[in-house]
Amino acid sequence: MAQLPLTGDEEGGAQALVPPRPSLRSLREAAAGCRACPLWKTGTQTVFGEGLKRSRVLLVGEQPGDREDREGRPFVGPAGRVLDDALETAGIERGDAYVTNVVKHFKWEARGKRRIHQSPKAEEIRACAPWLEAELDVVRPELVVCLGATAVKAVLGPSSRVMRDHGRVEASRLGPPAMPTLHPSAILRADGEDRDSAMAMLVGDLRAARARL
Ligand code: URA
Ligand code: SF4
Repeated sequence: MAQLPLTGDEEGGAQALVPPRPSLRSLREAAAGCRACPLWKTGTQTVFGEGLKRSRVLLVGEQPGDREDREGRPFVGPAGRVLDDALETAGIERGDAYVTNVVKHFKWEARGKRRIHQSPKAEEIRACAPWLEAELDVVRPELVVCLGATAVKAVLGPSSRVMRDHGRVEASRLGPPAMPTLHPSAILRADGEDRDSAMAMLVGDLRAARARL
């Protein structure tokens, strides 16, 4: 099986939980009990990927956000709305894509009553890698679209750069070819014209992805 650079199958690791000849359902059930890194303690639930087996395109983000953590589904909060808009403009049906994240639990820090997103650490990304690898093995997409730097680095390696490489399809070490693009949250953080041009970039990349399918 293709492996992320630092995938561990050490004792207590996620790899040991991956069932032999997994289906998406058995993977999801196994991942629900994952405790391979500390993030399960503060996250509400494992937010596993969603979509049909044999989806031709797999979209991968960083980690679930606040809404995703509560609902147990990827990209259903504000970033998910941006992603849905971009997919629609690019002519990709969300239901035709498998949507997931590099890290399956929400990492956050309390600020008053709010839960603020924190970036996952390298060891958390490494601990969670077996789940994404297993999803890729079951879905076998023709193309992986990496949304933002965490996904780009996890799939394409540490020397890939979103702004330099976006929209280009490259061989990935995980099997299927992969394309870097912006994370929808980057669009939410931008204002005015910057927001418009960031959205245009995401849509343009998704159109290029669609053209390859
Ligand atoms: N951001 C992500 O990277 N993934 C989600 O599922 C939601 C927000
Ligand atoms: Fe397991 Fe990933 Fe959750 Fe860590 S973030 S507990 S590795 S599912």
